Amino acid sequence: MSMAHHTESTRIQLQGRIATWLRRPLAHKLRSLSNKAAGGVSWMEDQLFEKWHGLDCGGFIDGHELETSYSSARAHSRAYQAVTCVAMRALLNEAMKTGIVFDHFIDLGSGKGKACFYAAANYRFRRLVGVEFSEPLVQAADRNVRKFGADNICFVNADAASFSLPAGNNLVYLFNPFGEAILLEFLKNNMDKFRRSQSIIAYANDKHRLCLAKAGFVTLFRNQDSQSSLHQYL
Ligand SMILES: C[S@@+](CC[C@H](N)C(=O)[O-])C[C@H]1O[C@@H](n2cnc3c(N)ncnc32)[C@H](O)[C@@H]1O
Repeated sequence: MSMAHHTESTRIQLQGRIATWLRRPLAHKLRSLSNKAAGGVSWMEDQLFEKWHGLDCGGFIDGHELETSYSSARAHSRAYQAVTCVAMRALLNEAMKTGIVFDHFIDLGSGKGKACFYAAANYRFRRLVGVEFSEPLVQAADRNVRKFGADNICFVNADAASFSLPAGNNLVYLFNPFGEAILLEFLKNNMDKFRRSQSIIAYANDKHRLCLAKAGFVTLFRNQDSQSSLHQYL
């Protein structure tokens, strides 16, 4: 294809897309503009949050490319990507509305630590623990915690399936870190802790939430749009 022909076909495609957009009802146009604006504001908040605290939580790593010595768990892993401030806030505010006084914030699949840092900066927890099976990501989180400067946050290099919750009320946070097999194993290993406390699970991008119902957890809250939910064993 010649250069002139390529430019002409790009121009026609662009005109077509603009015409389609203009034909949409006004309500659609306003919604799509406001979604774009909200996305921009959310992106800006994340940039500012990281910059303010000197953090580096960026990047995207596919699940099968994550470096880990827990090789059997890798098959169940989802990609590394940091949560957004706006998503954290929406779910943690709902968790706080339960009135439960939480002792610990536990992020299963903590990556570079963003969820722990956001929770520490905005809510009151005695201790915050990130559990991450990829050692390079734990090292990145450790570099971040030195910049953040808190002594009640730590990151553990472990497979979440065999992590044992501390005694007390835990807010266990998951941002779709892994599949059903790891989630079920984690629940099996911690059912006594859930039975003996007011701990809850805050699940963002809650792909495997039905596992929780099958294990006897009750859904306290769910937002269909953001696919996030809160669960407690009652
Ligand atoms: C979507 S990222 C979430 C990062 C972090 N929670 C946040 O919100 O910024 C999911 C993380 O789970 C980790 N992960 C996956 N399987 C795991 C497992 N079995 N045990 C511990 N971490 C795991 C991945 O390495 C990845 O960093």
